[in-house]
Formats: sequence, C-alpha cells, structure tokens
Amino acid sequence: MAADVDTDLTWKMLFPVIVNLIMSFITYIVTVRLIPKLKDMFIKANLFGIDMSKTTSEKVPESLGVVTGCTFLITMFLFIPVPFGNSLFNGAFPHDEFVELIAALLSICCMLLLGFADDVLDLRWRHKLLLPTIASLPLLMVYYVNFNSTTIIVPKPLRELLGFSVDVGIFYYIYMGMLAVFCTNAINILAGVNGLEVGQSIVIALSIITFNVIELSGLLWKAHQFSLYFMLPYTATALALLKHNWYPSKVFVGDTFCYFSGMTFAVVGILGHFSKTSLLFFIPQIFNFLYSSPQLFHFIPCPRHRLPKFNSKTDRLEISTTNFVYSDLSFLGKLIVNVFRVFRLIQWQEKDGYVITNNFTLINLVLFYLGPLHEAKLTTILIAVQVICTCVAFVIRYPLASIFYDV
Ligand code: UD1
Ligand code: MG
Repeated sequence: MAADVDTDLTWKMLFPVIVNLIMSFITYIVTVRLIPKLKDMFIKANLFGIDMSKTTSEKVPESLGVVTGCTFLITMFLFIPVPFGNSLFNGAFPHDEFVELIAALLSICCMLLLGFADDVLDLRWRHKLLLPTIASLPLLMVYYVNFNSTTIIVPKPLRELLGFSVDVGIFYYIYMGMLAVFCTNAINILAGVNGLEVGQSIVIALSIITFNVIELSGLLWKAHQFSLYFMLPYTATALALLKHNWYPSKVFVGDTFCYFSGMTFAVVGILGHFSKTSLLFFIPQIFNFLYSSPQLFHFIPCPRHRLPKFNSKTDRLEISTTNFVYSDLSFLGKLIVNVFRVFRLIQWQEKDGYVITNNFTLINLVLFYLGPLHEAKLTTILIAVQVICTCVAFVIRYPLASIFYDV
C-alpha cells in the first residue's frame, strides 16, 4: 500500500515535468529555426544595432529576445492544462496553484512588453527602475493572497538577540520588488560582448534547475516542480538564441531578453520560496553591480557604452576608459576611486591633467588583469567565472548554510 502511495506521488511529481521537458525540446527546435527567418523583418522595422567589436558595420537585428520570449510564453500556455488535467474533472480544482501560475506568466509577459518598449523607445534610467517594479505587482499580490508569509528565520548566531524568527512585514514585499528590479537590470549591465547576456542567463537557469532537481525529493517538492515548469522551456529558448548570438553574433538579444530573463528568475525565486538561494546564483552580477555603482550613480562619469574597445589590428578587445579631472569629483567620488586604486580594482593613468581609468565593469576588470583578449575567449572566460560562482553558491547553500540554519 505504502509503495503504491509512493509511486503515485512520484508519478504526480514527474509526469508534468516530463511533458514539460518534451515540449521544451520541441520549442528549442522551433525557435532555433524561427530566429533566422525573422531577422530581415527586424531590420526592416529599424530594429538593428551595429556590432562595435567588428570591422564590418553590418546591420545586426536587435531585440530577438522578443521572439524567444514569445515562444516561451506559447509553450507555457500550451502547458497550462497538463498539471491541472486531472483536477479539471474531479471537482477539486486547486485555484490557488492555478492563480499562481497565471500571475507568474502575467508578470513575465508584462516585463517582455516593457523590455521591448525600452528597445524601441530607448527609455531613461529611472524608467528602467520603475518598469520591473510595476511588472512585479501581480506577483506580489498573489504572494499576499496565497502565502503572505513575511517571517524570516534568524541565523543561529543572532538568535539570542532576535529570537528564532522575525516578522518583517511590508519590508518583505519591498525586498521582493527590489529583487525583480535587481535581476532585470543586473543582467543588462553585464553585457556588450557577443553571447554574454544569453550565456550568463543559461548558467543561472541551469543552476536553478540543478537546485530544483535536488530539492524535488524534499518536503517542498511542489515549489520546485513549479520552478521547473518555467526553467525548462526558458533554457530551451535561451539555448536557441545563444546559437545565433554566439560569436560572431548574427542577432542581438536586446534589453527585451535581459528583462524577460531577470523577471523569470525573480518569479520562480519568489513563488518557489528560494529567493535567497537564487540570489546566490547571481554572484558575478552582484559584484558587477556594486563595482559599477559609482558610474551608475554618477560619482564618476559614465559614457553611454562601457563595452570593451575593439582593436582591429590585433582583433582583440581592450579595456574601455572614462576620464575626469580629479578635483572635479565629489568627496565620495574621490574616496571611491582612491579605494579602488589602492586595491588595484582599476587601471589608473594620468595625462594632461586628466585621470583615465577603465570603465567599472567586470568585463573590463577581467581585461585589466588578463590583458587584451579575443572576443570569443573573453565571453568564454566570463561564462566560466559564472560557472565557478555557481559551484561556490552550492557550497554556501549546502555545507555552509548548516552553520547558520537548521537545514
Ligand atoms: C548596457 C550597458 C552599456 C553597454 C551595453 C552593451 C551599463 C550601464 N550599460 O547598456 O555599458 O555598452 O549594455 O550591450 O552598463 N553590442 C555590441 N556587441 C554585443 C552586444 C551589444 O556591439 O555583443 C552593442 C550593439 O551596438 C547593440 C548595443 O550594444 O546595438 C545594445 O546596447 P543596449 O542594450 O541598448 O545598451 P544598454 O542596455 O542601455
Ligand atoms: Mg542592453
């Protein structure tokens, strides 16, 4: 009898995931063929960019993320009946789970639209912060109705002081909103070399999938099954895009892709209750954001593009630079550049009263340490860094976390 219950549960757990996996496979094949067919359509609509790290100035179709976003959504729409198939007829329909799925798709769909709007209209910085906040509202509403759990478990060393858990109330919602803003923008600012936006997103997605598969045997298997429903088709569409976006890029992914990806990660992290773990898979993005912040918040001048500089003679990428007069910087600006300089986090040159440093991005930092690199090699190194950080994340999540929590 017990064995029967076990097989029943395993079947309930695995059946929708297997169907989802098969559908994702088909989506990959469709998307990989669809992208080249639509290229000219994008160029005609004036959606193209010039690859700044090539000698030719050919038009490269931009915002192809909208295609993968759509094939992702279509796969999800076709998949909706699968996990609910049985309950449609036996009268016990799980409305709460259903609304969760629909709201998650609404948030992702909304972000896809807003990302595309950004590509077409070239929005300002403040909009880039506002848009994901708005797109995450349906999600937060469902979180409120379904769980409204805003209690966090206190790490062991602090329990004497704060007790076992603390209810942080509204701050939990602010945190979740900020998570959506962070995930969307963090991928977009670690960009500028062929294949990097998609490459890093695939590593993050595969990390989340690995985590979900491990946790599928635990008590919270439903949340991880839910996450897999999204992550499998997402990875399939992203792989199809990478095939065309890898060096030399035939298409660019656009802000559409970065926003869509970030939102998808935020959605599964929030509704799957593993947002802290999913943040661990963003270590390079967190570093790049912190390192970039002096430029993002204009303590140091920030040019429109901070991608590495292409040297056509050597066919290699070199650091791109920004320059300023030291005495023009604010107090905080001076402090920051001095700290960065002392810790050798920036290249520092002085010429005709100007200070010249590299732009503050992880990409330039890698070039500063390793010297000029070929574009494909640079992307590969950056993706390898992402993979190593995922390994670190798993060490933090499993062996180390037990020091701080009862896991
Ligand atoms: C972000 C970065 C910017 C970087 C840009 C590159 C910040 C604050 N912003 O801006 O520094 O230069 O992404 O994506 O960090 N491009 C290439 N090769 C690539 C990818 C893009 O040359 O592999 C160029 C193309 O001209 C393309 C353009 O970058 O058209 C896209 O830039 P866009 O996404 O509009 O820049 P942002 O996201 O605003
Ligand atoms: Mg961009």
